[in-house]
Amino acid sequence: MTDQIRRVFAAIFLFSLTFALLPSFSKVNGSWPSPVRGKNGMVASQHELASQIGVDILKKGGNAVDAAVAVGLALAVVYPEAGNIGGGGFMLFRDKKGEFHAIDYREMAPGAASRDMFVDAKGDLIEGEGSSTVGYRASGVPGTLAGFELAFKKYGSGKVTWRQLVEPARLLAQNGYVLSNRLAELFVEYKDTLERYPESNRIFLRDGKYFKEGDTLKQPELAVTLGRIARLGASDFYSGQTAKLIAADMKANGGLITEQDLKNYVAKERQPLHGNYRGHEIVSMPPPSSGGMVMFETLNILEGYDMRALGSNSAAKYHLYVEASRRAFADRSEYMADPDFAEVPIAKLIYKNYAKERRSTILANKATPSRDVKFGTVGGREPMETTHYTIADKDGMIVANTYTINDLYGSRVTIKGTGILMNDEMDDLAARPGRPNLFGLVQGERNKVEPKKRPLSSMTPTIVTRKDGSTWFALGARGGPRIISAVMQSIINVIDYDMNILEAISAPRMHHQWLPDSIMWESNGISPDTMAIMRGYGHIFNDNSGNVASATGIMFDEKGVRLGAIDPRSDGKAIGY
Ligand code: DON
Repeated sequence: MTDQIRRVFAAIFLFSLTFALLPSFSKVNGSWPSPVRGKNGMVASQHELASQIGVDILKKGGNAVDAAVAVGLALAVVYPEAGNIGGGGFMLFRDKKGEFHAIDYREMAPGAASRDMFVDAKGDLIEGEGSSTVGYRASGVPGTLAGFELAFKKYGSGKVTWRQLVEPARLLAQNGYVLSNRLAELFVEYKDTLERYPESNRIFLRDGKYFKEGDTLKQPELAVTLGRIARLGASDFYSGQTAKLIAADMKANGGLITEQDLKNYVAKERQPLHGNYRGHEIVSMPPPSSGGMVMFETLNILEGYDMRALGSNSAAKYHLYVEASRRAFADRSEYMADPDFAEVPIAKLIYKNYAKERRSTILANKATPSRDVKFGTVGGREPMETTHYTIADKDGMIVANTYTINDLYGSRVTIKGTGILMNDEMDDLAARPGRPNLFGLVQGERNKVEPKKRPLSSMTPTIVTRKDGSTWFALGARGGPRIISAVMQSIINVIDYDMNILEAISAPRMHHQWLPDSIMWESNGISPDTMAIMRGYGHIFNDNSGNVASATGIMFDEKGVRLGAIDPRSDGKAIGY
């Protein structure tokens, strides 16, 4: 054999070996990329330390609700832009007997709140301090600890103590944790507003000596607060020393929250909102979230089309998706609000026949401009729905929890002596009905500012069942109204396009919320030719691309293995055991 022939054979051999050694990229079980696997339990949250704390609680015999409380408290320390005890949210779960439960611990407006508190004498929205987004008046009365305590006392396993759930968070606050590049940079990105508030400036910006990747952030005041909460429970926050500190700092700085407001706060159990899509029962959050309603109306409209045949990423699919979502968001604007204050015709909005009417106005290959899309008529006979984490335990209990302080770092105010960063959830009420809020959402009179009212939310913790009724997957997201788009497109991806949970939440998405009349799109996956076809139908795209929320989820496979997934759009880790 000549040298040349030998070289050719060697090259062919090496070439084949390379292919043999490479992962095959075959779709194991039908899809890739692969989620994290756990035979007994799974915690998928946006910070590895918080996920590990959740897994530790599960290993100690705690159930998914116990773990959800511990993870939520840990995120208040390690994920300060959204994790919180100064905000609120929703916990949706299915217990081991198969019953669904929803805990509403959304913030409530202070007693002194009033319709026009965010507009000046000329009728313009106030900006900066005093506005609905920044400063002391932007905060609603936080609900997180009331919600967590209710969940723990009523639905916890009884095998771990409240103190055991708070202690890991307290230790993280006291001893500190190493900042990722993202977190270190994010503080600086928000410095212009954080530095206005001395405690936020000192704790998160080190008075101008900004944190860098690898630095350790300690929060000693928050550790002391968590220590009191570990000993005394949520009552410390609502009627104890913490309540006094919050009320005093509010009073000294023109805020509205008083000791009485804190005493008045109640977390509420709500009836979860049930809907279905192509034979799968879906359970989600009722008002004061709009998430379930917008999702069910959109899915009901889309059920009338063969989405599978259109393909997951085609212009034809996105056209129908955007048209359905545009109509559901128009209804959100008109009808949705805190059900304790306004009549919310929820059953009619998620009624299949109502979707049929809405569907009949969608045109083939032609966008309907939002100015021509009004809210639907829901009169007639009554027919018989940010940071998110998902947790599953060994007994099949599954928790989907989304909670928030609204904007990143909320109102930017850290309450003196407590280390608690407060929410700016008042902006989710209609500071000026008919005008856009922080997320560009136009909200109506029903959602006007009123004392003790819960602001309308888009948070959408959701559980989806298999056709036999067993739990299939649970998920949720962060990202304002884009949350709803992320959750419903992920569900469509699983049900219509056979994706696994990680593939489903990773796939590209669009978002349309009726107003403004433009589509948010993701450059990483939405192709220029898809957009060109849609422009031809009359759709308008935002000038720049942007992420459509970020999600976490857990799926149970046929053998009961828990599959955990974190959206590649953000940090976090799914840990199974
Ligand atoms: O409740 C809501 O709909 C909003 N306050 C959620 C805010 C949010 O998701 C911010 N996340 N990045």
